[in-house]
Amino acid sequence: MNNKCELIYEGKAKKVFSHEDVDKVIIEFKDDATAFNSLKKARFEGKGKLNCQISAKIFELLINRNIPTHFLELKNENTMIAKKIRVIPLEIVLRNIAYGSLCKQTTFKLGTTLAKPLIDIYLKNDELNDPLITKDRIELLNIVSAKDLDSIIDLTLEINRILQKFFKNIKLQLVDFKLEFGYDLKNNILLGDEISPDNCRLWDLNQKNDTIVSLDKDRFRNDLGGLIEAYSEINRRINDFI
Ligand code: TMP
Repeated sequence: MNNKCELIYEGKAKKVFSHEDVDKVIIEFKDDATAFNSLKKARFEGKGKLNCQISAKIFELLINRNIPTHFLELKNENTMIAKKIRVIPLEIVLRNIAYGSLCKQTTFKLGTTLAKPLIDIYLKNDELNDPLITKDRIELLNIVSAKDLDSIIDLTLEINRILQKFFKNIKLQLVDFKLEFGYDLKNNILLGDEISPDNCRLWDLNQKNDTIVSLDKDRFRNDLGGLIEAYSEINRRINDFI
């Protein structure tokens, strides 16, 4: 990074730097991985590069389908230029299949296809361990208005429709994913953060029987090994298709 760029924010998997244009930022994808609110940590050489490439391709796909996102362009292998946004402190999780925390907190059996996409919203707050939050709490905390929350939910459902279809074409099942949104300088709501195997569950559909083969961060969460191989496979399938 050149010395004109100042580190504005460092998260678990990314660093955000200022850009010479005040309405842009530079996002560097790190090789670090965390799980269970940083209880588990590791480094995977090449993960940052893969997630940056995968995210860029998916943002381009969404932009072509009229989804407003912060993505502008790739700067190099593990950095992208994005519009500066005021991040809304909510993690919007959409689930097509019951897995992960949903099965720990409810009686849904692992792998059950849900009758309709389920949206679970979490407060983005590490100290509170990102608790599940209600619409009324969001409104009373003045995080976003009820109207903006409805827009965010509609965008999330539309993104799911686009991504489910896209991933199916490359023989991947989109189990669930987490999105973050923000406001640009004109107060438009934009999709932010990243869309990568770090924040999506993707299962290989090339399996002969019903065996679940995770090609996402569950390889690290559940000590399955082969994380870089899985992310590389996703990147390869996306590049072969687009
Ligand atoms: P969960 O089953 O642990 O609630 O995760 C649901 C989805 O959200 C899964 O694709 C992983 C993603 N996720 C994140 O990206 N960040 C997080 O902090 C958590 C808890 C989940």
